[in-house]
Formats: sequence, structure tokens, C-alpha cells
Amino acid sequence: MRIAVVGARGQLGAAMAHECGKRHEVVAFDRASFDVTDDGAVAAAMRGAKPDVIINCSGYNAVDAAEAHPVEALKANAFAVRSLARAARESGATLVQFSSDFVFDGTASTPMTEELPPNPRSTYATSKLLGEWFAADAPVSYVLRVESLFGVGPGGSDKGSLTSIVNGLRAGTVVKVFGDRTVSPTYIVDCAAATLGLLERRSAPGVYHCVNSGFATWHEVGMEAARLLGVEPRFQVVAVADVTLPAARPQYCALSNAKLNPALGYVMPTWQDALRRYLSR
Ligand SMILES: NC(=O)c1ccc[n+]([C@@H]2O[C@H](COP(=O)([O-])OP(=O)(O)OC[C@H]3O[C@@H](n4cnc5c(N)ncnc54)[C@H](OP(=O)(O)O)[C@@H]3O)[C@@H](O)[C@H]2O)c1
Repeated sequence: MRIAVVGARGQLGAAMAHECGKRHEVVAFDRASFDVTDDGAVAAAMRGAKPDVIINCSGYNAVDAAEAHPVEALKANAFAVRSLARAARESGATLVQFSSDFVFDGTASTPMTEELPPNPRSTYATSKLLGEWFAADAPVSYVLRVESLFGVGPGGSDKGSLTSIVNGLRAGTVVKVFGDRTVSPTYIVDCAAATLGLLERRSAPGVYHCVNSGFATWHEVGMEAARLLGVEPRFQVVAVADVTLPAARPQYCALSNAKLNPALGYVMPTWQDALRRYLSR
């Protein structure tokens, strides 16, 4: 396959380009290649690249800043997806779009399936849901919801909540963690492999929860990280209700990957296994 990876210098995008490059021809696009919010530039780039698949890893991910900059968030997370979907339609390409657990309101109490109706509570979340809908404009599209991504990004860079916890544990400082926020952390390496797996198997298009298996509170994730690192767990456990941020966050974010696993032909590794591989890299 000839695969265009958009946002190829982002955390997930770099892992995706690397994974796809093992067996396929990759055309990698970053911000310097074109601005994904420029409809004409997107169309021209895709016309030139002639991809079989467009994997969009770009996005506006500043959840709190999006409250003050809604137009920027909507442009990058929603209208850019419309441009990519239309470019995919023009060239007959498949589109892969990444979305977020934040499309849900976080009031569930068991792992959320793809059937659960979304109910976004912030500007960022709304922009991601609109992106999901615009992705459907492509002739074949996969919307892969991911959450709490972790892994080594381009140039060895690392970011995200889990990285902050690990860095704090390694430095021996007291780390602030939520004791009542439940997540399904997702290793970018496993996410990239699963994305390519769906494409190679020509699995049914649609929405999938593309996360590592299992779920835990951030405190439990931190405890496991401390155990794997062999360091003393020093945490200040806080409650979601105690922290005020500009954007509302869903509290319960466990995603079920029960639809993804059979489509992939294997069970996604657990988050604990992924964390062990990440820490021993
Ligand atoms: N990280 C998470 O925990 C998380 C959770 C849920 C969903 N997701 C979704 O997963 C996907 C990948 O996330 P990520 O964490 O890998 O993102 P990331 O590291 O922030 O990478 C996003 C990339 O998109 C590029 N980009 C942003 N706006 C652009 C524009 N207008 N034109 C061209 N490029 C642009 C950025 O370039 P610059 O670096 O130059 O800004 C960056 O390289 C996104 O769709 C995100 O919404 C992520």
C-alpha cells in the first residue's frame, strides 16, 4: 500500500510512519509540508501523493486552550478532516482518523463500547466528534478512538500524563495523580500496529476503540509504574472534583476494545504489558 501519514512528526504520527514503513511505501507529511487546515493545500498534496490510504495523526490537542481558541480547534480537528475525507474521495483512498475518549461524558461505570452515544463536554471534545462525522465523507473510513497515549515520540521526545508520572517517580518527587479518574492507557507502538493490522486485514470500516486492554485509575497506573521501575511510590492522590481546569474532563474513560480484537485477529496487549515494554525500552 502507498500510505500518506499526515502529522508524521507528532507522537503517534512518528510511530505510525515507522510501523507502516516496515512493509509499505510511506509518504510522510508534517506541518512544514502543508497546513492541514488549508483545504486547497490538503487537496493538492493528496493529489500529488496519490495514496491508497491516508492516516491522519494531526490534531489540535490543547484541551484547555481550545476553550479560548475554539475556531483553531474546530479547524484542525473537524474541518481539516473534512478536507482529508474529500481528498480521499477524489482519489478513492481509505481514511483513518483518530478520535478520543473525550467524546463521552465520563458518566459510565463499565468500559464504554462503540455503541454508547457520545456526549462531548468541551470544545476539544466537540471538535473531535465533528472530526469523526466528517471522516465518514471518505469512501472507506476508520475512526479509531485512542486515549492517554504514551511512548517515545520523534527525536526521543516524550509527553503525556504517564510520562509525567514516570519522570516524577524517577526523580523521586511526590507525584500528583487522580485517584478517581479511570483510563485505558494506549501505547503508541501497539496503536500503530493495530491501525496497520486493520488496514492489512481489510477489516470492516467504522468506529473502533483502539486502546490497550484493561483500565485503571491514574493512581493504579502510577503504582504499577513504580513497581516496574523498582522505586518507592510517592503519590499525592487527588480527586477530579478537587481540580479546576478550563475544560471539563470525563471522569470514567475506560474504553472496551472488544470490537477491535476480533477485527485484528489478536487481543491487544494489556496496558501493564505495554507499560513494561515502554519502561524497558
Ligand atoms: N495524546 C493523547 O493522549 C490523545 C488522546 C486522545 C486522542 N488523541 C488523538 O490522537 C491523534 C494523535 O495525537 P498525538 O498525541 O500524537 O498528537 P501530537 O503529538 O500533538 O501531534 C499532532 C501533530 O499534528 C500537527 N499539526 C497540528 N496542527 C497542524 C496543522 N494545522 N497543520 C499541519 N500539522 C498540524 C502537529 O504539528 P506541530 O508539532 O508542528 O504542532 C503535530 O506534529 C490526534 O488526533 C489526537 O487528537 C490523542
